[in-house]
Amino acid sequence: MKRRNFLERAAVTLVSLAGVAAAFSYLRQFFPRLAGEKKRIVLGDYRKFPVDTYTFLEGHNIFVYRDHEGIKAVSAVCTHLGCILEKSTDGFECPCHGSCFSDVGKVLSGPAPRNLSWYEVYRAADGKIVVNPSRTVGPGEKFNIS
Ligand code: FES
Repeated sequence: MKRRNFLERAAVTLVSLAGVAAAFSYLRQFFPRLAGEKKRIVLGDYRKFPVDTYTFLEGHNIFVYRDHEGIKAVSAVCTHLGCILEKSTDGFECPCHGSCFSDVGKVLSGPAPRNLSWYEVYRAADGKIVVNPSRTVGPGEKFNIS
């Protein structure tokens, strides 16, 4: 093989690989990482969560919010590429690419393509409060603890 042919093939191969990588990266935004979000999370006694506060559950990537009426759980995973959100004064912010979400998880500014997911919260037979990330509920829907 001549040197010129080899260089042409190498260049075509590299450009093709870069195109595949770019396409994969682009398509990935439509399929955010959900790994680790399907297992039920036992919160235990809801009283350990401070009232009127969002508590981040590390390892589960959710925020749990409790007020005097109930408790609710929202995904802390950005719907863009899956970075973990931070609580801001009036919602949630993504440190990776700057998406902002309202307090009810609605996208205020992108690039996040979808609102945050809220998860079912219920009381198990043993009385413990449980979050079920496999089942979504309406935005901000609370489990009534009274
Ligand atoms: S991961 Fe890109 S905005 Fe959150």
